[in-house]
Amino acid sequence: MIALGCDHAGYPLKLEIAKYLTSRGLEYSDYGTNSAESVDYPIYGKAVGRAVASGNCEKGIAICGTGIGISIAANKIPGVRAANCTTPYMAEMSRKHNNANVLALGARITEPAEAIDIVASFLETPFEGGRHAERVAML
Ligand code: RB5
Repeated sequence: MIALGCDHAGYPLKLEIAKYLTSRGLEYSDYGTNSAESVDYPIYGKAVGRAVASGNCEKGIAICGTGIGISIAANKIPGVRAANCTTPYMAEMSRKHNNANVLALGARITEPAEAIDIVASFLETPFEGGRHAERVAML
């Protein structure tokens, strides 16, 4: 189960990502927001973070205008490692080396097609473990 969340700026991109997940047969829980009406990104970043930290969801995807605010919010929840990624390579490395469990995206930064590639990379790449596990444990 993937936790999805966004603020108003991220809402249109969240719809695209939800469609993509469904097309791949992947289940998600939607933690809002569900319109383009202005809201506060910390509420949604923390909701996604809590869903992942509690074990209700395996991974999360959180979207705001830049990905910055919502990643900061998600990272306030203990156990969350949120990575704000603008390329598929960043998403790949966030999984391989950082064992990121929340992907943050900026809907005003990244085009939907690129965002889908970033999501695919994040979901498909396993954590490498080994020396990286020791470093992640130090976070
Ligand atoms: C909303 O205008 C914007 O501040 C928010 O989406 C995000 O980019 C914050 O980091």
